[in-house]
Amino acid sequence: KTVFVLNGPNLNLLGTREPHIYGAHTLADVQQLCQSACERHGLALQFRQSNHEGQLVDWVHEAGRLHADGRLAGLVLNAGAYTHTSVALLDAVKGTGVPMVELHISNVHAREPFRHHSYLSAAARAVLCGFGVQGYVLAIDGLAQW
Ligand code: DQA
Repeated sequence: KTVFVLNGPNLNLLGTREPHIYGAHTLADVQQLCQSACERHGLALQFRQSNHEGQLVDWVHEAGRLHADGRLAGLVLNAGAYTHTSVALLDAVKGTGVPMVELHISNVHAREPFRHHSYLSAAARAVLCGFGVQGYVLAIDGLAQW
């Protein structure tokens, strides 16, 4: 089975972007962590990043087709700021029925009030935030048990 890890806007800047909040690891480092975690569980990995909402919607649909064929282990979705704005991503997850972990590197609840609401949580099987990039590994370890 395959794990989809989708990253939204500005996550390509990981490593240089507000390192006091997001840490020093780059997105390439995160991909490596996810690759190792998937290998431990005998799972394949699709790891992607886009700054474009519609691209992320298309990728959720792609994960949905794998899900329909029984070939998706789960989706780890760090939608970045779209978490707080995107009804389209909520509808994509709901419409495909993909088992999804909503993930945030930072503890969004300890930050600005506009980060406290997530459109995606209503469609998530699990929500993880505040573990830094290690959260991606925890999410894969968790969905591997589904
Ligand atoms: C984030 C938190 C969001 O509020 C923010 O817009 C991001 C990253 C996180 O991983 O902590 O881009 O999803």
